[in-house]
Amino acid sequence: MFIFASPNEKQVIKLHDKYFKPFISAEEIDEAVSRLAVEIAEDIGDEIPVFVGILNGSFMFTSDFVKKYPKPCEVTFIKLASYAGIKSSEDIQRLIGITQDLTGRTVVVLEDIIDSGRTMDEVHRIFENEKVKSLKIATLFFKPEAYKKDYKLHYVGIEIPDKFIVGYGLDYDGLGRDIPEVYQIKKTEHMINLVLFGPPGAGKGTQANYLKDKYDLVHISTGDVFRYNIKNETALGMLAKSYMDKGDLVPDQVTIDMLNAEVEKNADAKGFIFDGFPRTSAQAEALDALMNSKDSEIKAMIALEVDDDILVKRLLERGKTSGRSDDADEDIIRNRIKEYYEKTAILKNYYSAQNKYFGVDGVGSIEEITVRVSSVINSL
Ligand code: IMP
Ligand code: MG
Repeated sequence: MFIFASPNEKQVIKLHDKYFKPFISAEEIDEAVSRLAVEIAEDIGDEIPVFVGILNGSFMFTSDFVKKYPKPCEVTFIKLASYAGIKSSEDIQRLIGITQDLTGRTVVVLEDIIDSGRTMDEVHRIFENEKVKSLKIATLFFKPEAYKKDYKLHYVGIEIPDKFIVGYGLDYDGLGRDIPEVYQIKKTEHMINLVLFGPPGAGKGTQANYLKDKYDLVHISTGDVFRYNIKNETALGMLAKSYMDKGDLVPDQVTIDMLNAEVEKNADAKGFIFDGFPRTSAQAEALDALMNSKDSEIKAMIALEVDDDILVKRLLERGKTSGRSDDADEDIIRNRIKEYYEKTAILKNYYSAQNKYFGVDGVGSIEEITVRVSSVINSL
């Protein structure tokens, strides 16, 4: 079983310096523990097994497991120390070993989680000289992508991706063991991801350039991304072009896939400035889902606000030198501005509802506007 997170952003918790999001509910854990108890009882039959919990992590699992085990059993613990912080450590120490005679017994080791499998080396070493009848390994959580050993894992509760988790006995530097659910680490909580908005002529490009340098962000202009993919004939570019050639709109998913590729290319970025996307609330939702899949989120929509008459003046001015025909006609300009407000009203509502909409006065010198935008970013 592979469980994907359905994180409710509001339930994010902080332990020491790290953030964690809800990952596996108490009910799901309870089901997995019940399943393991039934499965193991069926295999063992009428023999009285000895369940060996591995301390500290498996105290909660062991306790719940033996309560569900339908037949008589014995319970004991061994104590190993293995984890420092959030990296599986090379050095597994045995603090308390086997304290009773296990000769001829059926032993089932109960692990809370198997990650790299290094702990399994030590567990097998411990049982090497015990003349047990059989040794089985049961683990509540298992990270298949991280596992580097060949030991057979006889019983696995829930397979999870290779990401650090806490709760239900598992800790991050001592904290989190008492939580009845499991939380997963949120890696990129600190990212500053912005959606930059503004009517034509508001100075979006200019501001994006400043912000990019000042905050070390990656500027993703959807127009540039499209042109890049089409020019380089990437699979996505060709796909997009096939729609454009027919005069159809490029489906959101194609655009999102292109943006995803850009985000992946810059995985170490401190954040992204999205420019030209989203345009609809469906796209805004798709962008949220994309950010969420990267353990991140859009922090703010920053909209440059400029009075229509000023925009018209600026664009007419630009038209004189740029030669862009759509910058030369006042009616066309006014129409573009009107269209912008009609289209973006929905997005303003979308982000306002999440308290993420920030209108910034876009009239003044470039420096003045940069100061205003920066103060919004600094307050995030
Ligand atoms: P392994 O030896 O790498 O398989 O790691 C097993 C031990 O590392 C477990 O018994 C835990 O103590 C610890 N561990 C591994 N992954 C996690 C995790 O995601 N959260 C908390 N502890 C973990
Ligand atoms: Mg453990």
